[in-house]
Formats: sequence, structure tokens, C-alpha cells
Amino acid sequence: MIITIVGGGSTFTPGIVKSIALRREELEVEEIRLFDVDKERQDKVGALVKWILDEDLKCGIKLTVTYDAKEAYTDADFIFSQMRVGKYAMRELDEKIPLKHGCVGQETCGCGGMAYAMRTIYPMMQAIDDAEKYAKPTHWILNYSNPASIVSEACRKLRPNARIINICDMPIAIIDVVAAALEIDKKDIVYDYYGLNHFGWFTSIEHKGEDVMPKLKDYIMKHEILLPEAYLKNFKGLIGAGENENRHAKGSWYYVWKGVYEIMQNFPETLPNTYLNYYLQQKEFVEHSDVTHTRANEVMETREKMLFQGIDKYLSTGEIDESVFYAGSHGDWIADLAIALKNDTKARFLIITENRGAIPNMPFDAMVEVPAYIGKNGPEVIAQNEIPLFQQGLMMQQLNCEKLLVEGCIEGSYEKVLKAFTLNKTVPSMKVAKEVLDDLIEANREYWPELK
Ligand code: NAD
Ligand code: G6P
Ligand code: MN
Repeated sequence: MIITIVGGGSTFTPGIVKSIALRREELEVEEIRLFDVDKERQDKVGALVKWILDEDLKCGIKLTVTYDAKEAYTDADFIFSQMRVGKYAMRELDEKIPLKHGCVGQETCGCGGMAYAMRTIYPMMQAIDDAEKYAKPTHWILNYSNPASIVSEACRKLRPNARIINICDMPIAIIDVVAAALEIDKKDIVYDYYGLNHFGWFTSIEHKGEDVMPKLKDYIMKHEILLPEAYLKNFKGLIGAGENENRHAKGSWYYVWKGVYEIMQNFPETLPNTYLNYYLQQKEFVEHSDVTHTRANEVMETREKMLFQGIDKYLSTGEIDESVFYAGSHGDWIADLAIALKNDTKARFLIITENRGAIPNMPFDAMVEVPAYIGKNGPEVIAQNEIPLFQQGLMMQQLNCEKLLVEGCIEGSYEKVLKAFTLNKTVPSMKVAKEVLDDLIEANREYWPELK
């Protein structure tokens, strides 16, 4: 097997490589290739990856670091995609520009997510085309590149036959937290879930066949937050640094774990994805945000800085401190998905896929996030019951917003993109939508298709 990582210079690459290498027997992996458009970033991460493969795990997997698409994709079996078009500098603007106008500033939700999507759609199509041209005909692209929801709608529309599965690590990160809070083993948890990406609900959580939703609700109501006690102790004040092993339980992530409690106080029947806070508590999110210091700044000051400082130290002294890079569920999830496809295991995963009736009262062509059994021919999606009016109404508004955005991006239509911004639940009025959009157009001149 040859696995190519697109966005090889990502802060997540070392962790993903570790997850792949630890599964080398099941994956029968011979070569890992890193491909990126930023040579400096890629070379540094490449040096650390080489250490992981050759020194740390001594696993005999060949490493190729390349900036050439043909070399990256030729005969690849799997392409793991995780590109951040515009890098953290643009993420910072995605978050800060909407906030300046009093709107949620978030990398994948609301206006920021739409801006990020308009940068990512065509580079992702390029990756699909390169894979089609050079990779094995049986290749699979497993895509983490955000905003995964809008990216997946663009794939459906522009490249309907692409061998791509779009995925997200948030639901499993929530399950990690649930397992730690209830002190149970996450491997024994089975859950049901439906939604759009970053816009969904857990309808059941079972541990060894026992429904643990009642215990979980009690836990959340008692602690007034969904975070394990051990992590809570480490939050210094509201947005302290928080030293613990879960990367989602740090910094301003605090608010969305708190928000799970706040949402469940009113709507206790399901466990909401943390991302629903941006849509259901949009006003409160803006109120506790700091327009001069957003999540992008936190990431640049912590995850990115630690990684590259650690690599620089390694390059100058030969010493490695493994705590400079994050490894865990994020890499395990994508590597396990590749195993399910390769070895036809029919293991259960949550994926983003065309609805085709899986949620009966959502459109046939909606890109939804639902559980599926994964085998060599791809996903076999598990059909859901009809969903309640509240959730369906929210999802339809978000879905139509995302569809309008993709159409606007493809057609170069300012009016359609403005309609998408106006329809988004994080935006209070058409006037504000236009103001935010015009500022984002200015900031994204280098990246977006022209809108007329
Ligand atoms: P990062 O900026 O550290 O890494 C992204 C890399 O992509 C950079 O090295 C950049 O140079 C590269 N890149 C940009 N455009 C490219 C292109 N056209 N082709 C190839 N490479 C390109 O970002 P990160 O925080 O490590 O995140 C990486 C990606 O993974 C982001 O898209 C992020 O949103 C996504 N992500 C998704 C999930 C999920 O749940 N779906 C979870 C975590 C991260
Ligand atoms: C979760 C989401 C991802 C998102 C990430 C951001 O894992 O599922 O889609 O990219 O959070 O995390 P960060 O630490 O970069 O804010
Ligand atoms: Mn995600």
C-alpha cells in the first residue's frame, strides 16, 4: 500500500503517520508520501515524520516528501487529504472579520466557514483530478479538509464519481469525552447519530448494550458541562491553557462543552454536537469572543508553535520531545477507516455521504452525516427514522445555505453567495450579510473565484 498525505505540512501529519505506522500490518503499508504546497513547512514536518518512521518505530516504511503532484499520487492506494488553503493566516481572518460585524467568527461555521469553503473547493477538485489521473483506479480519498460539509457538497456536484469519503473527528472526540466522563471504555461504545457535518445530534449511546444516555445526562446536569472531572481541574479559569491529553478540551473550546449543557437544559432528548452552539447560541458566542484573539491565535500560539519549535530543536540538537506533536483519535479514525476499506471489515463509521433516503424527511441529494458500515466497495449507509421538525428545520436552513454557496462559487454569482450568507443562522440580517461578504471578498482576493 502507498498512502499519500495531501497537506503533508499539517500539524496533524505526525499524529496521522504514527497511527498509520502502528497499524502497518493491517494496512500492509510500504510507503508514505507527503505532499504540500509549502516547501518550508513540509520539509520540517517531513524531518519529524522520518524520525517517527526510522528512529521511533523503526518500521521500515519508506518516506517520500514531494511537491510534485505526479510523484505524490502515482499508484497511491489511499490519499488522506487535510489541506488548509490559506493556512492559519486566513483562518484568523475567517474568524475575525465576521466578529467585527457582530457575527460568529468560526473556521467552519457561519461566514468564516463559507469563506474557507470558497478557498478550498477548487484545490480539492484538483486533488480529486490528480488522484483520478495518477493513483490506482481502486484508490480512496479520505478527506478531512474543512469545511468538510461544504467541500462534500462541492464534490457531489462537481465530481459525482470521485472515490472520496469525507469525514470529521468531532463526533469521536465527543465520544472520547463521554467515555472519560463516565469512566467507560470507548471501544465498547456504539452510538447513533444524524445531521449535517458540524451540525448533528447523537440519538443513542450504548455501552456494552446498556443505554448510557440517562447517566450521561445526569453527569452533564450535575457538572453543568460535558467534560471529564480530570480535565475540568486543569482549566485555569474560563479559558486557561488546560494541560490534558484531549486537544478538544483546551482554551476557548471550553465554551462549546459548556454549551452542550446549556442546550441540553432546554432540549434534553439528544446529545448535541458541540458545533451546534455556533448556531443556537450565536449571540452569546459573539459576546464572549475576543475579536483581537480568536481560536486561530490559540492554535498558532500552542499547537503550531510547539510543533515547529520542537522540530527546530530536533534539527539543531537531534533531541526529540514527543509531546510537541498531537497523536490520538484524529489519526486513529482515518487509519481505521482505511483498514475497513482495504480489508473489507464492515466496521461502523460515521461519514458524510449523499442522503439517498437514509433520512426520509431530508432531500435525496443532501450531504448528511450518518453511520455506515465500511467495506471494500465503500459505505453501506444505515437508514434512520424520520427526524423531528426542529432538527429538520435547522438542517434544511443550513443545507440550503451550503448548496447556495456552492452554486454561487461555481457560477461566480455574487447574488447566490449573498443569499447563502443571508440564509445562514449566524447572520442577523441581509445588510450585515452583505457587509461581511464584501469584507471577506477583499480579504480573499488571492483565493476566491471572482463573484459578479
Ligand atoms: P495546517 O495549516 O497546519 O496544515 C495544512 C497544510 O495544508 C499546510 O501545510 C498547507 O501548506 C497545506 N496546503 C494548503 N493548500 C494546499 C493544497 N492546495 N494542496 C496541498 N496542501 C495544501 O492545518 P491543520 O490545523 O493541521 O489542519 C489541516 C486540515 O485538516 C484543515 O483543513 C483542517 O480544517 C482539517 N481538519 C479537519 C478535521 C475534521 O474533523 N474534518 C479535524 C482536524 C483538522
Ligand atoms: C474539530 C473539528 C474539526 C476542526 C477542529 C479544529 O476536530 O471536527 O473539523 O478542524 O476541531 O480544531 P482546532 O484545534 O484547530 O481549533
Ligand atoms: Mn470536523
